[in-house]
Amino acid sequence: MDFTQYELGYDIPALPGMAEAAIQTPCLVLDLDALERNIRKMGQIAAQAGVQLRVHGKMHKSVDVALLQMRLGGACGLCCQKVSEAEAFVRGGVLDVLISNQVTDPVKIARLARLPQLGARVAVCVDDLANVADLSAAATAAGTELVCLVEIDCGAGRCGVGDAAAVVALAQAIATAPGLRFGGIQAYQGAMQHLPLFAERRAKCDVAIAMVRDAVAALAAVGLRCDSITGGGTGSFWFEAGSGVYTELQCGSYAFMDADYGRVLDRDGKRLDHGEWDNALFLLTQVMSHVKPGVAVVDAGLKAQSLDSGLPVVFGRDDVAYVKCSDEHGEVSDPQGVLRVNDKLRLVPGHCDPTCNLHDWYVGVRGGLVEVVWPITARGKAF
Ligand SMILES: Cc1ncc(COP(=O)(O)O)c(C=O)c1O
Repeated sequence: MDFTQYELGYDIPALPGMAEAAIQTPCLVLDLDALERNIRKMGQIAAQAGVQLRVHGKMHKSVDVALLQMRLGGACGLCCQKVSEAEAFVRGGVLDVLISNQVTDPVKIARLARLPQLGARVAVCVDDLANVADLSAAATAAGTELVCLVEIDCGAGRCGVGDAAAVVALAQAIATAPGLRFGGIQAYQGAMQHLPLFAERRAKCDVAIAMVRDAVAALAAVGLRCDSITGGGTGSFWFEAGSGVYTELQCGSYAFMDADYGRVLDRDGKRLDHGEWDNALFLLTQVMSHVKPGVAVVDAGLKAQSLDSGLPVVFGRDDVAYVKCSDEHGEVSDPQGVLRVNDKLRLVPGHCDPTCNLHDWYVGVRGGLVEVVWPITARGKAF
């Protein structure tokens, strides 16, 4: 990437080769060693379980991170949620994308149907017969093929059909529609990913797996076979991977981690960020005022992070804590007065996905130096 056109601090928070200490804040920092460890580990888990890994790109929205997940973690490609995200990833060279969502608006359907013209395999979820007809007409008009997965609502209560008969009806419609190929099932149980206890998550996932088994049996009874049965997230992938029925994992947050997932417990009752995954994503912030005793004011407020899953946590420190937030400011309690103006802190964001969507760049660091600066390619692409 040519950085000569960018002005430090105006367009870009850092430049490759500079010291970590000189990074402009607030900005997103990636610990590249931790990121690579997480990526390799999930790749190994999927390979050992004999399932494909299709990482979720809605979490990081970065072509560079996606390509790293494919290179180091064996990911076959990625999932995303919106047509505009898929377009950004395909243009960036990720040529196998699943929109793990419904696409129903006519303009969006036409854009989706044109995407395979760029050389990509493009898949999408459906839960509605009329949508099958619309996708078929658009793919036929574009001279392309769209892979369609029937989405099952296996407990999240979001999109997807609820019974095997509906799955069969949709699959048969897809299988006979010009321009479409029946690709299998998506069954993502999003509602249980953050339940704190492993056993609670397992119980919910067992219900999902039973629903998927019923659907697969009903499809087999009418001669339809699923190439792909896809689902699973950072809180549940062990269950889908070991189910014997899922063929693909869609995990996203494992690569970066966040404070909310960090509190979730693994099978041994240990926090997910104390063994299973490393914190790789940080919101770097700087103290800008320390007038009042016991409180430091930092430059990362609401506009630099999403608080839907709670406040960020100051990484590696228990002497100071991020306690309050307004648009442009954060308050950090500093009872012992250890912080000084211009000190920097690494915050672990409460929720990685919507926080990443607020920034233009990832600054990748290793050994105290900025190694890479990556654009957040699909940032803001929500349509
Ligand atoms: C359809 C789908 N699959 C996979 C994921 C990835 O989940 P996680 O980030 O918990 O790994 C999500 C996240 O919300 C999702 O919506």
